[in-house]
Amino acid sequence: MSAPARRAILILLVGLAMLAATLGALYLLRPGAPRLVEQVGPQIGGPFALTDHEGRRVTQASYPGRHLLVFFGFTHCPDVCPLALGEVSVALDALGPAAAKVQPLFVTVDPERDTPAALKDFVTAFDDRIVGLTGSAEEVEAAARAYRVYFKKVPVQGALGYTMDHSAFVYLIGPGGKLEAFFTHETKGDAMAQKIRGFVGS
Ligand code: NI
Repeated sequence: MSAPARRAILILLVGLAMLAATLGALYLLRPGAPRLVEQVGPQIGGPFALTDHEGRRVTQASYPGRHLLVFFGFTHCPDVCPLALGEVSVALDALGPAAAKVQPLFVTVDPERDTPAALKDFVTAFDDRIVGLTGSAEEVEAAARAYRVYFKKVPVQGALGYTMDHSAFVYLIGPGGKLEAFFTHETKGDAMAQKIRGFVGS
């Protein structure tokens, strides 16, 4: 084979490989494709041992038969947490009676400041059905690890002293402990409710 012919074949092969890679990427990114987090779903969520905002010790088994709607955050959060809890509250209202099958849980990543009483004030301002959870630093770390939640203390100027960086997904966990869906803090409550309804029924 002549050198130009070999080069033409090589260019063709490289072109085909690039086409295959592009088609593969389009397939993975197609609308409705399961996202990475959903694909690793079974690994998100798990056992936890914490204290609820009434001071009771609770675990993932404390809400039998219910779907857990779990969000990690902290009461001094300036925007993301209030936004997310506001949408959770909208979703609960939109679910109507089906909301009884859902237990929303707000787990603090700032147990130093978020006592049960502080959590109760915060979450019930959004919705009486949301339960705040706190614990020792170790208990909170273990729960965050189970949900693959990142958080980090960040020093700031002023009276607050520090803020918390944290990932902000809302997880829907089935009664069997399996991840069913997740939302960002930007998911609208109505969309959240629609998705939840698909798992809990009406
Ligand atoms: Ni926050």
